[in-house]
Amino acid sequence: MKINIPLWVGVMISLSISTFATDTAETLFDAKCAVCHTKTRPTDMNNIVAPAIMGVMRHIKMSYPQKEDAVKFMVDYVLEPSKSKAICMPQKIERFGLMPSQKGNVSKEELTKISNWLYDNYPPAGFRGMGHGKGMMQGKGR
Ligand code: HEC
Repeated sequence: MKINIPLWVGVMISLSISTFATDTAETLFDAKCAVCHTKTRPTDMNNIVAPAIMGVMRHIKMSYPQKEDAVKFMVDYVLEPSKSKAICMPQKIERFGLMPSQKGNVSKEELTKISNWLYDNYPPAGFRGMGHGKGMMQGKGR
């Protein structure tokens, strides 16, 4: 009579390594964005090549409090960056240069995944002041 400890252990293991199993948003981010955007507060501000992602997300949420709009903005910006669309402070662009388009590096689908994940996770907890907003703009584009 076999007991099912192996199964139980197996479940535990697969739960703990599931982040590596497929292309989750985070692995996608790590592979495609983290080269430039660090996920943690930069230890050496002189060595960074792009704003840390928590800062980026903070600004994005200030301009696009609605998730839908924020995701739309990010997907568009990452594929077609331009100075006029940028929501980050002009000094950032002056310092780092405009973000190079990631067309070819990341697909729209992957980007949507990444953007949703970013919106849900950054900036990290402790920054939760955006509960208002009634969808006044409806995000219709033009
Ligand atoms: C080669 C380096 C590089 C890579 C790779 C990169 N970025 Fe950027 N990104 C930058 C720089 C530099 C800026 C700041 C200048 C700007 O806003 O264009 C920036 C700015 C941004 C912004 C803010 C845009 C704004 O309004 O100013 C977002 C959002 C962003 N990146 C998302 C991403 C995502 C998502 C990925 C991965 C798919 C990614 N980036 C990959 C360099 C990079």
